[in-house]
Amino acid sequence: MGSSASTDPRPKAHATADLLDRVGALALTDLQETAWIEVIRKMEEVYSDLIRYEVDLERKNAALEGAQRFIASVLAAMSDVLIVCDNRLRIQQVNPALLEMTGHDEADLLGQPFTTLLPFADRDLLAGLAGGSGPAALRDREVRLIAKNGEPTDPVALNGALRRDAKGHAAGMVIIGRPVGELRRAYDALNTAHADLKAAQQQLVHSEKLASLGRLVAGVAHELNNPVSFVLANTHVLEDYRQRLTAYLAAVHDGAPAKARTKLKDDLGIDALLADLESLIEGTREGAARVSEIVKNLRRLSFTNRGEVAPFDLAEVVGTAVNWAVRARKIPVALDLDLPQGCRVRGHAGALHQVMVNLVENALDAVAEVAAPRIAVSGRSEGAHAVITVRDNGPGIAEADILKVFDPFFTTKPVGQGTGLGLWVSYNIIRDHGGAIEVGNRPEGGAAVVFTLPL
Ligand SMILES: Nc1ncnc2c1ncn2[C@@H]1O[C@H](COP(=O)(O)OP(=O)(O)OP(=O)(O)O)[C@@H](O)[C@H]1O
Ligand SMILES: [Mg+2]
Repeated sequence: MGSSASTDPRPKAHATADLLDRVGALALTDLQETAWIEVIRKMEEVYSDLIRYEVDLERKNAALEGAQRFIASVLAAMSDVLIVCDNRLRIQQVNPALLEMTGHDEADLLGQPFTTLLPFADRDLLAGLAGGSGPAALRDREVRLIAKNGEPTDPVALNGALRRDAKGHAAGMVIIGRPVGELRRAYDALNTAHADLKAAQQQLVHSEKLASLGRLVAGVAHELNNPVSFVLANTHVLEDYRQRLTAYLAAVHDGAPAKARTKLKDDLGIDALLADLESLIEGTREGAARVSEIVKNLRRLSFTNRGEVAPFDLAEVVGTAVNWAVRARKIPVALDLDLPQGCRVRGHAGALHQVMVNLVENALDAVAEVAAPRIAVSGRSEGAHAVITVRDNGPGIAEADILKVFDPFFTTKPVGQGTGLGLWVSYNIIRDHGGAIEVGNRPEGGAAVVFTLPL
């Protein structure tokens, strides 16, 4: 037995062997010896169990430490701040992001009420969370926490969630705060960019308006120049005629002999002068009429901004304008009016009347040479807009002209029949009303003008 005990390397086994030696020294009976061996065997069993438990415990401990390190690394990697509180909102755990943001030490915070991190104004509401309003009340609540030095931190958006224990009972609250400083800065930058863009756009619209005004003035000057120089030239001729007539009449009054009178009459070209006088006066009148027509058309412009913006009945205004324009021309044209009843539009009724007259006059001009002239005016509502269409069965608009028809003074009509302002004025009126206007050719022939107005 001694030899078997001495081969056992374990120090505790020596103690067992010693015991056996000492026991062996006594004169034991066979029975007693068997009992002892049994005791020793049991002791060895217990001892090896102990060893196994210890190894197991060490393994579990290592796993636990690993899990703890893992959780700590996750907490440390979070850029959001984390605050874990118990049921009475006392801080149980925080993450490094919170410590970095506030400058606090972890030890300062643990066990403290969460509300000490909050500015005074926010304390009441958030303290109420503990009182049962629940973490649901804490949803994207933007707060500046109080740093260790008493200064407010960058804003964070706080969200709370209930934490439950193993039995499912409420055990406190987990609060996550997402720093919104970056977001806020990006938002501010976006806002500034938007404001800049709007200013630039306004500038553009303004300079576009100025440019179109410039074009208009240049156009007006050009358009007026022709008839005005015409009238001016005619007055020079009239002055010359006046002088010649005065000289001739003076000779007549002075009783000049018939022969001398005839000679003077030939010399002064009195017969040709008298024959020319009628067309001279006619031409001058035409020139003046053209000036007055241009001025009249320009005055349509000021129509745009005059009067109250008010709701009016679309069918009524459009119908009146169309009939008015058609009657004024005395052309036998088949008129097809299809306007919805009770359709109310906001704007200047007078200005819309003007637009309709312009469009129908164009259509009437277009169908002037057509065998069976036909004009159709229809209206319908589409979403928030009324859509009005004027169609004719004239020759349509040449492809090359489609982009130019809205330009001021663009006209394909002979002098005296068009100033080229009708569509330009209409375009401006519709745009000022918040609508849009387009022209095009219909596949079956003829032109179609479509415009919209807000209902
Ligand atoms: N229904 C149409 N069919 C064919 N061409 C058209 C039609 N409407 C407009 N146009 C073309 O567009 C041009 C410009 O039209 P706009 O109404 O602006 O001026 P205008 O009719 O020539 O002159 P104003 O209207 O000032 O008397 C016209 O000269 C014509 O060539
Ligand atoms: Mg016109």
